[in-house]
This record gives sequence, structure tokens and C-alpha cells, in this order.
Amino acid sequence: MGCVMSTDGQALSSVIRKDRSDLYKSPGVGDREDWRLPLDAWQRFYLQKSWKTVARKSDQAARTVFLRMLQDNPGLRQKWPRISLLTEEEIPTSPYIKFLGERIFDCLDYIIDNLGDLDHVISELTKLGRQHSDMNVMTPEDVWAIEAAFLAGVQECLEDRFTIKYEEIYSRFIVFVIETMVIGFDPH
Ligand code: HEM
Repeated sequence: MGCVMSTDGQALSSVIRKDRSDLYKSPGVGDREDWRLPLDAWQRFYLQKSWKTVARKSDQAARTVFLRMLQDNPGLRQKWPRISLLTEEEIPTSPYIKFLGERIFDCLDYIIDNLGDLDHVISELTKLGRQHSDMNVMTPEDVWAIEAAFLAGVQECLEDRFTIKYEEIYSRFIVFVIETMVIGFDPH
């Protein structure tokens, strides 16, 4: 009897230990929830949480991203008459640059909010890529131009919270967005 009790006791305590270790283990670390999204559960959590700070400063961030992208890729300016007509001095205060930056940030906000529904997110990003492709001046390389500028914009918002951990999370996220948009550039 005692033996049975002790066996049950051991079994029970090992269940409790297992449950507790599962509790303390970071769920999903290193494991993608879905192979199509290059983030694990914790990275998605930290992205969604920190994005609230970025979104609060999205006016400033969007402008920084667009300015940085145009500075680093001067060839981009020539592709759109509405941008190429602006002087260097006019760019930072241009309502059109503000409009473009806001479109991008509103869209990223929507994507981050809906990462739980990847089918929908991927379909929207592919469609968006197709819209950019249909402008007939944009190439996939032009979309990649936003990668470094986006990270600079996020860093500006998160300031010293933008550690290597967040750099990796945001980098994985923007690469996912760009790669998915670029799929929409395929002949259609
Ligand atoms: C993360 C990447 C990007 C996202 C999420 C994004 C998002 C958007 C969205 C939502 C629109 C509005 C589409 C519509 O409703 O018609 C748009 C339009 C546009 N985007 Fe992007 N975009 C991205 C990258 C870029 C890049 C890298 C450039 C330029 C090099 C660019 C240039 C434009 C232009 C010129 C328009 C048309 C604006 C107009 O109507 O005058 N986008 N983008």
C-alpha cells in the first residue's frame, strides 16, 4: 500500500514538476508558431507590445523612415514627379512625404495587429506588392530600400529600449513584410 502511495506520489510530483517547468519555460522560444512568420511566440509578443510605443510616435517615425530612405537611395526620388520636384529643404515638411509615411505606418500597424491571421496578412501584403508593382516604376529593390530606414525609425522611437533583441525582432519582421510584398511583383 505504502509502495503504491509512494509511486502515486512520485507520479504526481513529477507531473507537478513537469507542469511547473512548462510554466517557466519560455513558450515557443526558438519555435516558430507558423513557418511562414520568422518570429517565435515571444518575439511576436515583444513586437506587438513595443509597437504601441512606435505607433504613438508614428508621425515622427514615418517621416524619419521616408527621409532616411530617400537620402540613402537618391535614385528613388527621380521615380516620382511629386517627390523629385521637392527640394532637399522642402522634403522634411512636405505634406506628400507625410502622407506616404502615414500610409506605410498605418499598413504596418494593421499587419502587426493581425499577425494571428497569417493567411489574411500574407494575402494583403502580396496585394500591396502588386499595387506597387503596378505603379510601373517600382522594382523589388526599391521596396528593399525601406529595410534599413525602417529600423532607424523604430530605433528613434524606442531609444535605449532598442537592444539587439529588438533589432533582431524588427529586422525579422520587416524582412517578412518586404519578402511577402515582393512576391506580389511576380508577373500576374
Ligand atoms: C514596408 C513597405 C511598404 C508599405 C507597407 C507600403 C504601403 C503603402 C500603402 C498602404 C500605400 C497606399 C496604397 C493605396 O491605397 O493605393 C502605398 C502607396 C505608395 N507607396 Fe508604399 N509601401 C511600402 C514601401 C514603399 C516604398 C519603399 C516606396 C518607395 C520607394 C513606396 C512608395 C509608394 C508610393 C509612391 C505610393 C503611391 C502613393 C500615391 O498614391 O501617391 N512604398 N504604400
